[in-house]
Amino acid sequence: MAPSYGSCPVCDLMLFASKTGGHDAASMVSTLWFWLAFGLTVVLLVAAICTGLSKRRRLHLWLGPLTMLSLVVTIVLTEKLMLRYDFPADLKAIHLPCAKAGGLLALPVIITGLLLWRREQWRRWHRGALVVWLVSVLLATSTGLWMFAHGSLRG
Ligand code: HEM
Repeated sequence: MAPSYGSCPVCDLMLFASKTGGHDAASMVSTLWFWLAFGLTVVLLVAAICTGLSKRRRLHLWLGPLTMLSLVVTIVLTEKLMLRYDFPADLKAIHLPCAKAGGLLALPVIITGLLLWRREQWRRWHRGALVVWLVSVLLATSTGLWMFAHGSLRG
């Protein structure tokens, strides 16, 4: 019997990965780059949080901006991947505002980070902006994966 979504999270992820894999070489290459950028962003994000919390400022001032840069690359690659798919209009209408919010809410993190660099009083603002941004990124990622799971590769 063909596997279906919803049975177990690991199977869902594997099924999703194979679904986004496409059939031709160009599809597979853009999918590979997308997953590499996505993985790198997650690693950088965790490292930025750890160095921020442990006050390793010099390293954090590299990892914070690199996280943002990696996120931008991932978004560009996602847009490219999306061109190969047709998505249900209702799921797209849910995902797009979440994705835009995730992008826009990165700005307060950057601004408060720069202010905190100069003045300690911005610490709780940086932390607050980060929590809001992380929630929006989680929402954008989960609705994005949901949308891809229901998308169909263009023939
Ligand atoms: C992009 C530009 C960013 C700048 C300029 C910046 C700057 C800073 C600075 C100066 C600190 C204080 C470090 C210390 O105590 O010595 C800090 C703390 C912190 N940053 Fe960033 N950051 C940025 C992005 C990020 C990102 C992307 C994340 C998470 C993914 C992050 C998470 C944190 C956390 C968790 C703290 C600790 C806050 C606390 O102690 O309450 N930052 N950041």
